[in-house]
Amino acid sequence: MIEPSSTQSVGHALLAREAAHGPGLWAQTVAFVRGQGVRLWDADGREYLDCMAGIAVASLGHAHPRLAAAIHEQALRLIVCPQNLGNDVRTAFLEALAARMPTGVDRIFLANSGAEANEASLKWALAATGRRRVVAAKRGFAGRTMGALSLTWEASYREPFEPLPYPVDWVSYGDESDLEATVSNETAVIWLEPIQGEGGVHVAPAGYLQRARELADAAGALLVIDEIQTGVGRTGRFLALEHAGVVPDMVTMAKGLAGGVPIGAVAMTSAVATAMPKGGHGTTFGGNPLAAAAGLAVLREFDQGDLLAHVERVGQRLRAGLEAIASPKVRTVRGQGLMLGLELKEKVAPYVDALRDAGVLVINAGATVIRFVPPLVIDEAEVDEVVARVARVLEAGN
Ligand SMILES: Cc1ncc(COP(=O)(O)O)c(C=O)c1O
Repeated sequence: MIEPSSTQSVGHALLAREAAHGPGLWAQTVAFVRGQGVRLWDADGREYLDCMAGIAVASLGHAHPRLAAAIHEQALRLIVCPQNLGNDVRTAFLEALAARMPTGVDRIFLANSGAEANEASLKWALAATGRRRVVAAKRGFAGRTMGALSLTWEASYREPFEPLPYPVDWVSYGDESDLEATVSNETAVIWLEPIQGEGGVHVAPAGYLQRARELADAAGALLVIDEIQTGVGRTGRFLALEHAGVVPDMVTMAKGLAGGVPIGAVAMTSAVATAMPKGGHGTTFGGNPLAAAAGLAVLREFDQGDLLAHVERVGQRLRAGLEAIASPKVRTVRGQGLMLGLELKEKVAPYVDALRDAGVLVINAGATVIRFVPPLVIDEAEVDEVVARVARVLEAGN
């Protein structure tokens, strides 16, 4: 499938130009110029299967015709309409999203990114509880802005920027007794991901989120579930918390919610929503009609098709395929739906590079886990192609 070109000159030239004006934070290796479904093409015409999807963002795949049409039509109608003014498409989007939320968690603030959604949830928690302390999990990732960074475990991200605004009591993810010992009547929020994504694709053990709910209630604290990576169908349910049947006080979402158009959202109960004084929070771009139209187009795919059942089916196929790879390098496969981690017994960085060279785009989750978060529309044949290439790359290094 990869069509090697005689030189990589177009891509290399693009990367050099981007690097000249970028902030220098990344070692970019390839420049993409086009996508279609699960496939991406780089500047030199090479084709890739995208199992990264902008890190779980391109939920409907690239250049999805109904998503593209919704964006196009909205752009021709109205792009700008801030949240202090009403708007038809935003209203329709809020109604459709609220219908997908746990019962009673149906008041929604719209923002522009995951970190911004988490920031908003922390302000709302402070307004609702009058408390500041957060119980968050080791290996967790909440984003890079200062409030969200407070809850982000990775020391190299966090420590250079301390002091951070929210004091955090860290617990071991999945350990109920640690939660029991840590949550107190000073806790404002228990903040948890249903599957730790950046932290290595660790799924919350059965009963863990329910126990967090009970402890939050007993302490007068709020339970915030971060569905920024796990939400919008990624795990085979619209929200991953549905696997646990837990009802939080707030859910944060972003990534796949508008299929790639920047968006963030905090869904919350009325009790939480009304605790914020009027004008106590806001954002210029949040809830703009363009993002709302894109979000609505994504939600319609769930309403009109069998996308969740599809995710469950192809997710099981991808998992079974990865599990069947007979390589001594593999430690385990874990995850849910189309959020899967292949843990190796060694560092994965060289394999992520080798997979890219073999035409499969993936991303690591920590040092030893290869993460697969492809578009939700990936089909069986594409899954089999991915698995065959992963097997070849792992075997090549034996
Ligand atoms: C669980 C989780 N929360 C928050 C964020 C931050 O989102 P953003 O990068 O849009 O700020 C991410 C991003 O990877 C995430 O995975």
